[in-house]
Amino acid sequence: MGTGEVEAAKQSAGIAACDFVHDGMDLGLGTGSTVRYTVIELGRRISEEGLNIRGVPTSIETEILANEHNIPLIPWNQVEKLDLTIDGADEFDPEFHLIKGGGGALTREKIVAKISHSMVVVTDPRKDVEILGNFPLPVEVIQFGWEVTSRHLQKLCPGDVKRRGGDNPFITDNGNYILDCNFGPTISNPVELENKIQGISGVLEVGLFTHIADAVVIGSTHGIEVRIKPSGRLS
Ligand code: 5RP
Repeated sequence: MGTGEVEAAKQSAGIAACDFVHDGMDLGLGTGSTVRYTVIELGRRISEEGLNIRGVPTSIETEILANEHNIPLIPWNQVEKLDLTIDGADEFDPEFHLIKGGGGALTREKIVAKISHSMVVVTDPRKDVEILGNFPLPVEVIQFGWEVTSRHLQKLCPGDVKRRGGDNPFITDNGNYILDCNFGPTISNPVELENKIQGISGVLEVGLFTHIADAVVIGSTHGIEVRIKPSGRLS
């Protein structure tokens, strides 16, 4: 896909996902260049159609965008349950398991997705994979002792484990590092791997989202494909 085609695919997916949004909903607002189009469309529907929704942003970037588009936000300390989260992904597999965190917002994204009744993923066709792992798996780790944490991760990971940003490290909204783990397309049991990585001291969160997504909206220049998980909460 060319750059223009990818952008068009992202835009069409981001907008189409708004079909899942209904008046009165409280929404988790994901992070990234695809869900950006969802946030913009929600802002349009609020101002032009009187849509009544509230959002919880998963990053400072999304909070700024939502404010620019006049989306009412629920303060974090008042959030209990959400109706729906819409978010992007870096990869999704046939079981609707995801790799997320390409934008470094995985921890807030997972907190928000897990308190949501359902989750819709907005993507383009490049993210559709049989087995997860070609996209380096992001893991958010605390800064203290990150080299030790990295060595623990390295024992699980067949490829290299790199701190994002190298000597000029990327810092998450939570003040932590991201370690990108090059598993290659080997993650055939993402549930087991998620549990193993979550068991490592120093790890805050891992970008494997298993049994969370209920639908994937895949945009393209020739139309939208919506895949609904058969046993999911939207089927
Ligand atoms: C951010 C994420 C993003 O949702 C993911 O990286 C996809 O982003 P994009 O839509 O820009 O490709 O997980 O942490």
